[in-house]
Amino acid sequence: MRKPIIAGNWKMYKTFDEATQFLEAVRDQIPTEDKVDAVICAPALYLPTLVGIAADFDLAIGAQNMHYENEGAFTGEISPAQLSSINVDYVILGHSERREYFNETDETVNKKVAAALTAGIVPIICCGETLEERESGKTEQKVSGQIKAALNGFTAEQVEHMVIAYEPIWAIGTGKTATADDANQVCGAIRNVVEQLFNKDCAEKVRIQYGGSVKPENIEELLSKEHIDGALVGGASLQVDSFLALVNKA
Ligand code: G3P
Repeated sequence: MRKPIIAGNWKMYKTFDEATQFLEAVRDQIPTEDKVDAVICAPALYLPTLVGIAADFDLAIGAQNMHYENEGAFTGEISPAQLSSINVDYVILGHSERREYFNETDETVNKKVAAALTAGIVPIICCGETLEERESGKTEQKVSGQIKAALNGFTAEQVEHMVIAYEPIWAIGTGKTATADDANQVCGAIRNVVEQLFNKDCAEKVRIQYGGSVKPENIEELLSKEHIDGALVGGASLQVDSFLALVNKA
């Protein structure tokens, strides 16, 4: 039985005050971590404050990206060691927006996954197809390729603790959600790839989220599917009420 994981990805939204007020508002209303893992991946400059606020209730804090080197002359970047030094629990890696606008590649995602493990941070590894790829029947090929590249060089024991997020690019921020059956089919294909690369036990333990226009109205159907273990949520994670509804329904 895999524990559900609901992760909000705030992207480049919220002022500092809005971020801290959100955490104060959800305090005492997040279910305990034996039921669901609730995570907020916030803009980097708020992370130390948010980690401090969330220290006494069951909300984990994540970053939205990081470099794969622990230190060096990389102006403007944040390292795994720096995130770990402020007790960040998760990091989103290979989000389609990073791949599209910031030259993230399968190779850099793989290096970042390795760096996250060394730093003791759980990677949330993103994959997903464009609309054109879906319409030409290339969804599973694209997603499998991204996952094989991201997981290259690790052991089953390492992979079983990772989180994979399947986010069809055409469903992100568009209001269009993949049907629960379509999302489940791709998440099942990802689980098969993990089984082929590692073993059945690892494939049964690794958690796979769906992302793309997830809202309180569709979370229950998505989570009722065999291979969907949670959600990576953009827009609906920005409002206190909808984030709480998502974690409470999980
Ligand atoms: O990482 C979450 C994301 O890209 C989905 O965004 O706004 O469609 O929930 P949204």
